[in-house]
Amino acid sequence: MNIPDIIIAVDGFSSTGKSSFAKMVAKEFSFLYLDSGAMYRGVTLFAMEQGWIAADGSIDEKSLEAALPSLELHFQRDDEKTKLYAGSRCIEEEIRTLEVSSHVSPVSAIAFVRRWVDERLHRFSEGGRVIMDGRDIGTTVFPNAELKIFMVADVDVRAQRRYDEMVAKGEMPTLEDVRKNLLERDYIDSHRETSPLRQAEDAYVMDNTHMSFHEELVWVLGVIQGKFGILEAPALTW
Ligand code: DC
Repeated sequence: MNIPDIIIAVDGFSSTGKSSFAKMVAKEFSFLYLDSGAMYRGVTLFAMEQGWIAADGSIDEKSLEAALPSLELHFQRDDEKTKLYAGSRCIEEEIRTLEVSSHVSPVSAIAFVRRWVDERLHRFSEGGRVIMDGRDIGTTVFPNAELKIFMVADVDVRAQRRYDEMVAKGEMPTLEDVRKNLLERDYIDSHRETSPLRQAEDAYVMDNTHMSFHEELVWVLGVIQGKFGILEAPALTW
């Protein structure tokens, strides 16, 4: 099925399966996948490594702002996967730890950090045919995206998914800590002053609490066919 060179914005709360969904769609339709959350995680890891995030969680914003222009983050395809690099160093694993997760929401609430990330996301997306996931893609980063999807799922299901993901990577969190971190991030992400997480008015809402990947793909195909008037029958690989 031929899909036009559009920008697809996928937003939603933490661990609603945005990145799995976006990666699957990117693979199926040969789109570029961009994970905007990874950029915020990359900035957070950088600030942590520089010692600019104190034990009480306070951030040395002055130092971060001064150093940000020289931080070089980019995505690179490795073994079929898109990974985040800081210069020549792959930081894909480090940015997914619970420690980074517990600091990333306050860092991503800083206005100059958001401007820095947005500017890079625009640069990476030149040419279109991009699917990007995050919290404010359809509202702030690409308010004119041709297709906007807002993902939601039950909080217990989300906590279990994130927990399983971390255990599979060898981490040993408790399910309760993971759930607590999710709820904290939900709150900060949707109550911050700059670009809070909210559903764009023209977004299609997907509740995937009880959906398989295949069902998600069938769902998005239905939306795309309806929205862009595509009559051709899709041949799915999933
Ligand atoms: O999707 P994620 O959990 O990897 O995102 C990490 C954090 O980054 C999340 O808590 C909120 C923030 N974020 C954001 O503020 N805006 C985005 N577009 C993407 C992520």
